[in-house]
Amino acid sequence: MLRSTTRLLSRSLLPSARQHYTTKASNYVKIVEVGPRDGLQNEKQLIPAAVKIELIERLANAGLPIVESTSFVSPKWVPQMGDNREVFMGIKQKPGVSYPVLTPNVKGVESAVAAGAKEVAMFTAVTETFNKKNTNCTTAEAVERLRQVARAALDKNLKVRGYVSVVLGCPYEGPVDPVKVAELAKECYDAGCYEISLGDTIGIGTPGSMARMLDEVLKVVPAEIVSVHCHDTYGQALANILKALEYGIRIVDSSVAGLGGCPYAPGAKGNVATEDVVYMLHGMGFETGADMDKLLETGQWISDILGRPTNSRAASALMIAKERQKQQQQQQQQQQQKARL
Ligand code: HMG
Ligand code: MG
Repeated sequence: MLRSTTRLLSRSLLPSARQHYTTKASNYVKIVEVGPRDGLQNEKQLIPAAVKIELIERLANAGLPIVESTSFVSPKWVPQMGDNREVFMGIKQKPGVSYPVLTPNVKGVESAVAAGAKEVAMFTAVTETFNKKNTNCTTAEAVERLRQVARAALDKNLKVRGYVSVVLGCPYEGPVDPVKVAELAKECYDAGCYEISLGDTIGIGTPGSMARMLDEVLKVVPAEIVSVHCHDTYGQALANILKALEYGIRIVDSSVAGLGGCPYAPGAKGNVATEDVVYMLHGMGFETGADMDKLLETGQWISDILGRPTNSRAASALMIAKERQKQQQQQQQQQQQKARL
């Protein structure tokens, strides 16, 4: 099925986009779990560092290869991440798992290095207003900053990931030009990012806008290093991810229990739930290495701590199905006992 999709796509894509389209797209999809950072940064209630550490360790034990753990941003801007050092240094790191941290500037990189981080993620946005609101700078300054961050990190032999935000729409400026997204993705690529995550920060995109954006981005950046980061405000995240898979994208950011949002993106809902992404991918025959049962347990555990139901529809449905199965088993046992009497 995958091979026929690949053939169909290589015919239908624009020649320029096809240039970077991976015709031997892998059957493995790498999940980048962002719940402990993107998820918890938006929580009003203070979450104890011990809970954050346990969440990170549970996610790694659920088979996820990358767990973005915290951010070394200004605590005045995002107080919830003010315990970054304690959290990062408290993680019992699992061999083979990466624990990147978000860094907005060189100061952030230095603090991350001092805490022992091996990988950082830097971020910039397509629109002037979002850059101003999120990182207090213009887009031109943001580009200069990301070059400095990448240089500082690469000099210290860290891996650098790049985020481009509001790629399918901005809460302040509305629709964005896919060409601008491509320019910023190229900036990240040229700065030395090993991976570039395209953020639909306010979850406003559709498969149509995702396709138009990828048509431009994949002209300048290889699909193999592109990730999609979909918030789920309009319930379009899975459809958008599916569209990205058709374009050969094999890296997806997601957040357990659908936690998340950006404090500077009003109205934005959480990221697409990791459980929902894994359910869809496994159902399509993709491999992720994720253990669904452990993910479900973790999603339920953190939702209980936060005192609200999970945002994962797959988790809710699977929990109901499990409960029903348990009841049926109990009924069967009772009937067997009665029959024996
Ligand atoms: P600023 O106020 O312009 O910074 O903020 P400044 O350089 O003028 O410094 C002001 C103070 O902040 C100073 O302290 C600095 O030392 C301190 P003071 O002298 O007043 O005591 N400071 C720092 N402290 C700790 N760590 C640092 C740091 N840098 C400066 N790294 C700044 C500029 C970029 C720092 C600020 O705007 C900031 O931290 N913004 C981060 C906002 C944020 O974290 N947003 C959420 C993450 S992005 C996101 O969620 C989107 C994403 O998920 C993808 C998607 O969905 O699209 C990634
Ligand atoms: Mg985000």
